[in-house]
Amino acid sequence: MNPYDEPSAPGAGPGLSPVSAGADGEDRAVEAALRPRDLDEFIGQERVREQLSLVLQAARHRAATPDHVLLSGPPGLGKTTLAMIIAAELNAPIRITSGPAIQHAGDLAAILSSLTEGEVLFLDEIHRMSRPAEEMLYMAMEDFRVDVIVGKGPGATAIPLELPPFTLVGATTRAGLLPPPLRDRFGFTGHMEFYAPAELERVIHRSARLLDVQIDADAAAEIAGRSRGTPRIANRLLRRVRDYAQVRHDGLVNQEIAAAALAVYEVDARGLDRLDRAVLHALLKLFGGGPVGLSTLAVAVGEESETVEEVAEPFLVREGLLARTPRGRIATAAAWAHLGITPPQAPPHAALPTQQELFRTGSEGGSEE
Ligand SMILES: Nc1ncnc2c1ncn2[C@@H]1O[C@H](COP(=O)(O)OP(=O)(O)OP(=O)(O)O)[C@@H](O)[C@H]1O
Ligand SMILES: [Mg+2]
Repeated sequence: MNPYDEPSAPGAGPGLSPVSAGADGEDRAVEAALRPRDLDEFIGQERVREQLSLVLQAARHRAATPDHVLLSGPPGLGKTTLAMIIAAELNAPIRITSGPAIQHAGDLAAILSSLTEGEVLFLDEIHRMSRPAEEMLYMAMEDFRVDVIVGKGPGATAIPLELPPFTLVGATTRAGLLPPPLRDRFGFTGHMEFYAPAELERVIHRSARLLDVQIDADAAAEIAGRSRGTPRIANRLLRRVRDYAQVRHDGLVNQEIAAAALAVYEVDARGLDRLDRAVLHALLKLFGGGPVGLSTLAVAVGEESETVEEVAEPFLVREGLLARTPRGRIATAAAWAHLGITPPQAPPHAALPTQQELFRTGSEGGSEE
């Protein structure tokens, strides 16, 4: 089973927004070709890159397998890419599987017992592994040993099985969901961070070269600014821009063409998509900037609460356009500015308590007419 058949982010799957961080079929097909092959080629993530490079070099020096590595961070930032790079840098074969693919401890035992010495085992979405498999993994990581249970009931016996030394590379978008005993068994954890626009520009130039797209510096900057700090999104937007440039122009991509193409796909200058803008628009126009409850906001944009909460809000919050408060969602000054709407007389942060509200007690939500 292909571990990448699992959508890795809310909103992934059919009807994927052009700025969703999850991967769809097309992404998976081209991603292999766009992946940097070694640490030098890997753009950005300076800290993780330096730390990892030390871990790998030291291991090479000692001619030993390096400690187990955990890579954590949001989708599309390069965890799978780094896992492959680790194997490449070690000149070791890599075995790829994922948490959801390991339903039973036996599945894991089969994989572990077939590893060769020094092999890299990449376990994607490691937080989704089953409990019994997890427990087997503890022992394998620490002692390079597993107990294979043979038989059932009172007659069952555990046969210890020695494993060759291997390096586990785990990836997770939800490090917080990993049980501490599992987290503690990794010698090194790399925390992936969102990319700066200048780094995304380099990603775009590199991908453009590989895809044979002619693009100028301004156009790369235009796409980078809309990519939400995520290389996967940058690569996807580049492909959409390329399509547009080929069909409507002569293929050459400049800033004007990039902006026009992304307008067609409803990705705005800051990387907001249609739903993001609908949420902000409703919050500003219908509710005067809030505070308004999530379910009310969701009804106003004709979506499920979960969709608004899990798909639209995280990026809006990250961008400082929307805030979640105990009294409901509020828009920030930046939200009014971004949509070009003038706030009504009340200041944009009307949600901060006014003098009167501060001294009025026990009247939660009383500001509503
Ligand atoms: N530092 C980088 N430099 C260049 N390209 C990158 C970099 N990081 C990621 N990419 C590109 O972004 C795409 C997505 O990266 P990758 O699949 O490694 O992300 P991921 O963190 O594993 O995501 P997920 O959580 O969905 O599995 C790949 O096509 C890869 O080429
Ligand atoms: Mg991945």
